[in-house]
Amino acid sequence: MEFQPIKGTHDVFLKEMDEYHYVTALFRAVSELYGYREIATPTLEYTEVFSRGAGESSDIVRKEMYTFLDKGNRSVTMRPEFTAGVMRAIVSNKLYASMDAPLKFYYSGPAFRYERPQLGRYRQFNQFGVEAVGTDSPYLDAETILLAVSAFSMLGFEDISLKVNTLGDDASRKKYRAALKEYFASHIDEMCEDCHARLELNPMRILDCKVGKDQEIASSAPKMKDYISPESDSRFYKTLSILNKFGVKYEVDESLVRGLDYYSEIVFEVHAKGKDGKDYGALCGGGHYNGLVKEFGGPDYAGVGFAVGVERICSLMEENGLFSDIDSELDVYVMPIGEEVYEEAYSLAANIRALGYSVETPFANAKLSSYFKKAERRNAHFALIIGEDELKRGVCQLKDLRKKEQREVKIDELEETLDEAFGEEESCSCQNEHEHEEGNGGCKCGCSHHHE
Ligand code: HAM
Repeated sequence: MEFQPIKGTHDVFLKEMDEYHYVTALFRAVSELYGYREIATPTLEYTEVFSRGAGESSDIVRKEMYTFLDKGNRSVTMRPEFTAGVMRAIVSNKLYASMDAPLKFYYSGPAFRYERPQLGRYRQFNQFGVEAVGTDSPYLDAETILLAVSAFSMLGFEDISLKVNTLGDDASRKKYRAALKEYFASHIDEMCEDCHARLELNPMRILDCKVGKDQEIASSAPKMKDYISPESDSRFYKTLSILNKFGVKYEVDESLVRGLDYYSEIVFEVHAKGKDGKDYGALCGGGHYNGLVKEFGGPDYAGVGFAVGVERICSLMEENGLFSDIDSELDVYVMPIGEEVYEEAYSLAANIRALGYSVETPFANAKLSSYFKKAERRNAHFALIIGEDELKRGVCQLKDLRKKEQREVKIDELEETLDEAFGEEESCSCQNEHEHEEGNGGCKCGCSHHHE
């Protein structure tokens, strides 16, 4: 039997792994600029954490959770999202008693949803997200949106679309739900089975239904904006005015309701298209919520947050060529000529690693040409060739595989030589490709950097 990963899950390695780290590191760095600290909650929680958190009426809780009884007969669930677990952790650890509000946390890792796998949709996928809890302010809502938008722009996305909407406060939503219930009740016989359940649990979920006929019926349903209280309305416009001040472009999309039950007031999503128009779905979704911390037995705190789908972002960045900065090269490939020099070569490799450079060596004797092929496949920057003759003279041959230049270097001076070669690259902050000219080593783009 040939084993394959479970449907909707995939293995991540090599380039894709580097890309994954690149994206999460960027979100991590930007979140830290905004004062967020990291939190890691368990992958597995009691099922109630999510049914209370994400809401009984959401598709996620009703249909998509990986839920099972553990050996102690307790119902547990692989997290379908992080927000509920983070709220549970804030309460379990009474973090609200020891930290100033807003409590700001970021997180990343796998989430699990039993969805139909398709482009950009997996059963195990990775999210990066943030939650800011304990301060109810449109400034914090706007700042959270700005964080997301800034990170996308730093990743190189030039053309994202930020959709925003308001779901109003609890009272507004209650009135709206009642209006929807009345409207959909008179059409329910023509609608799908799922919508029958949605009508009872939360008619707002019907607006998310993907069945064509149901969408047609939903298009004439009462509109949220007619039920928003004046307070919620002015809060929404205040948030938008702050976004304007930040220079954040957005589009108000009245059909945006989000698929989780905990939101109130502003909600948002980030979308972007690939070069060939492929739609991977929302790259980021989030919004404001009330009452979640209270739901777990903590204070009545408001919160705001978002999560991004790391795979979707990586797929789009790959498609749009935004990964050019990723450096997955090996610094040095050490090539011993003959078994006699193996020991010396391996200890030289260890010494170079101790200087902080990545090094690989072959473990079986082969022709120099095959070593060079391996070095090339490994994307090595330097080849370091060492044979008996070099050993006797205390030198090695160092070949820069980018510039195709080889020179003899004293082993005692290797540290200096490598530091110089790598330092030269790092110290140049201009983004341009450099022309290396013998004699006059000036960088043609006019930056202050000069090559030897
Ligand atoms: P969500 O919209 O369910 O929100 O998920 C956030 C992001 O996770 C989506 O925009 C998408 O990029 C990614 N995603 C969701 N499902 C999948 C899937 N099956 N395969 C691949 N990627 C997926 C939440 O999870 C909320 N907890 C966000 C939040 C945080 N709201 C407030 N705080």
